[in-house]
Amino acid sequence: MATKPVEREATTSESFLDRARKLLMRTSGGEFLLPVIERAKGATITDVDGKEYLDFASGQMCATLGHSHPRIVDAIKRSVARVMHVYSGMVSPEVVGLAERLVDVLPAPLRKVFFLSTGGESTEAAIKIAKKATGKYEVVSLADSFHGSTWGAASSTFIQSRRAGYGPTVPGTYVIPAPNCYRCPLDLAFPSCDYACARIGFDLVDTQTTGSLAALIAEPIQGAAGMVEPPPGYLGVLQRLCRERDMLFVLDEAQTGLGRVGQMWGFEADGAVPDIVAVSKTLGGGIPLAAVATSPAIEEQAYRNGFWFYTSHLNEPLPSAVGLAVIDAIREEKLVEAAREKGAYLKNGFLRLKERHEIIGDVRGRGLLMGIDFVRDRVSKKPAEAEGETITRLCLERGLFMSPIRQRGRYFVWRVAPPLTISYAEMDRSLEIVEQAIRAVTRL
Ligand SMILES: Cc1ncc(COP(=O)(O)O)c(C=O)c1O
Repeated sequence: MATKPVEREATTSESFLDRARKLLMRTSGGEFLLPVIERAKGATITDVDGKEYLDFASGQMCATLGHSHPRIVDAIKRSVARVMHVYSGMVSPEVVGLAERLVDVLPAPLRKVFFLSTGGESTEAAIKIAKKATGKYEVVSLADSFHGSTWGAASSTFIQSRRAGYGPTVPGTYVIPAPNCYRCPLDLAFPSCDYACARIGFDLVDTQTTGSLAALIAEPIQGAAGMVEPPPGYLGVLQRLCRERDMLFVLDEAQTGLGRVGQMWGFEADGAVPDIVAVSKTLGGGIPLAAVATSPAIEEQAYRNGFWFYTSHLNEPLPSAVGLAVIDAIREEKLVEAAREKGAYLKNGFLRLKERHEIIGDVRGRGLLMGIDFVRDRVSKKPAEAEGETITRLCLERGLFMSPIRQRGRYFVWRVAPPLTISYAEMDRSLEIVEQAIRAVTRL
């Protein structure tokens, strides 16, 4: 018998939101967002009232192929008909196939992988592998980094206000300044700074360590920090600083991996292959799927030291079938190249808006992962929070969903990450909507 459909006697977004407010816990510091989405296809999401929006966040930055890509839908249907779930100690053909595909798009020596559900879990796993392989426990990460909500990941997440009120974090977690060239924490400029944020950061780590430095974990582009794109060569410098201390170099490619930045991986720009990489969001295309990859040598060491990471959804067939479809689509539909070309086109569009509108302080990022930084003026770089909120709302009213990341008094940045399958016409329409919204607020 089919499941009873969701009660729909009142159909508006507002009425659904009323019902949601009564029952659903608020878990992200704010209220639930309108609109209430009923359907999604490609770059378009449609609310319960039938209104369409271009989704410039790809859901929660996962739907890189666009919503309900036919290959993903087909993979789910086929998997449901065969096998969705097995005992976690078993494997299935889909899991083996995905392991082969993932290793195929990763550089050597990243030849050992396993699969989980969320980005937070992949961070936990990466950190645990590093601890077991090195026999050490201290972990360094970057200011304003985000690596997940579970406790190990949250302990290596340094976003102001997120840590307050939960008691002590995992001992031995340290932070170094963010490589933020637009708002340099050290008030220096690249390249004359010579990566001072990394060097001074590690000087401080050296004074704090108890001699047990296991790893550093970083994002190739810091999403929650306001799309902070480190200067060229930065990841290589981090890697060297890690090597000098016999630490593992771990990268979290949740947002940057699998083509979004116009290369297969965020680390490719600097040629700094990590010892361990965490992959999530983009791998599942909207289905919970994450992976961790490392070298056979590190895997062997971790295994010998008793590495243990077991969940109910370890190496799961259904998400793996989707992951296979995602990687195949990225390669066969040439989506890495598409991200590069469309990203250049969209960035040019935003740069032209920046020329005309003082409120856009900076346009940064690579491929189809960009940050649009709204400022009160370009000298103080104080965030244009109220204006930014209004521009975001006006865009939504005109059919464009933009997802801002904000830290009160520090930054208000749009995280621009449309599906890699977005069309040029959709990008043009979005730029028009953005300009109309900016004009309505700044009256320019
Ligand atoms: C860089 C990064 N790492 C980890 C995570 C956590 O992923 P998840 O929300 O799937 O646990 C996120 C989520 O936004 C992220 O952006």
